[in-house]
Amino acid sequence: EKGGHEYFMLKEIEEQPEALANTLRGHFESGRIILDEQRISDQDLRDVDKVFVVACGSAYHSGLVAKYAIEHWTRLPVEVELASEFRYRDPVLDRDTLVVAVSQSGETADTLEAVRHAREQKARVLAVCNTNGAQIPRESDAVLYTHAGPEIGVASTKAFLAQIAANYLVGLALAQARGTKYPDEVAREFAELEAMPAAVQKVLSTVEQTRDLGRRIADSRAVLFLGRHVGFPVALEGALKLKELAYMHAEGFAAGELKHGPIALIEDGLPVVVVMPSPKGRAVLHSKLVSNISEIQARGARTIVIAEEGDETVRPFADELIEVPAVPTLLQPLVSTVPLQVLAAEIARARGYDVDKPRNLAKSVTVE
Ligand code: F6R
Repeated sequence: EKGGHEYFMLKEIEEQPEALANTLRGHFESGRIILDEQRISDQDLRDVDKVFVVACGSAYHSGLVAKYAIEHWTRLPVEVELASEFRYRDPVLDRDTLVVAVSQSGETADTLEAVRHAREQKARVLAVCNTNGAQIPRESDAVLYTHAGPEIGVASTKAFLAQIAANYLVGLALAQARGTKYPDEVAREFAELEAMPAAVQKVLSTVEQTRDLGRRIADSRAVLFLGRHVGFPVALEGALKLKELAYMHAEGFAAGELKHGPIALIEDGLPVVVVMPSPKGRAVLHSKLVSNISEIQARGARTIVIAEEGDETVRPFADELIEVPAVPTLLQPLVSTVPLQVLAAEIARARGYDVDKPRNLAKSVTVE
């Protein structure tokens, strides 16, 4: 049941606080992060010297987000790969490589084949999956289940947020095994994750404002998304949602790349969504993005800015402002993705499309 909503996706967007809370529950006991099924020994986990995240679509974006956290916490190099590319380019894998396969369905053919390839090369494989007993977790050495609940809308929403949280737990488990974080630091990071359902709940109070904005820009020809640091993969995810639901041309860019090409796309009235970092947490990147916004606004773009509550510096450059609560930088994608999901869904609805069943797409892609 859509729970009184016009489309499932909106219901699933609103279930995100619960999805996050359920995904975190039970994974921090007696001062330690614990995974679900761990057939990798503690020693093998300690010996990991390189991490690959392999996934498709939104799950891939969850890996791009997690790279920032896992590298920061573990000091291990993390590569994030599209599963469909991974095994065709002879990746460097051995028994000290941890491959994290992220899949909501657990049945995505490319991700499954990437898992098989990794295991043939003796790498350890950890699945992050939303579906109990699916093929990918069955063929993996360890599993961490996201507990987002079944996702009916074809476009991933709550599973995506849960994947980010689960990937972060993998990062903390590695940091704990390697000793790159003290137990009290791991506990603090976990506590910060546990505060996220409430932060996401707060963002949900802006849903009607964002839907209204969606209706107002629904007849645009294209939309660009800009971000930096963890805001960059959020921009990619926002663009993917808009493509798949509203069938609009949408691109996500790293804002630092603007002058290397994308700024040529800016024209009068073009909506550009900018995911701002925190003015306190990431002051340098924040000021660079403020100057990016002023440049694109001067060239006629209609700026739609996702910014931290109380961020006054950005106001003069924001034609539309959507505020999200202040959270630690690495956790910002969990709040800033939400308005982008709502925007895509509402633009699609306003254009008369079926938000839950976009054309040409299937919920799980079991052929390559
Ligand atoms: C986007 C979307 C897809 C999936 C991708 C991977 O909204 O839903 O891009 O994220 O097909 O699917 P799973 O996670 O089931 O492997």
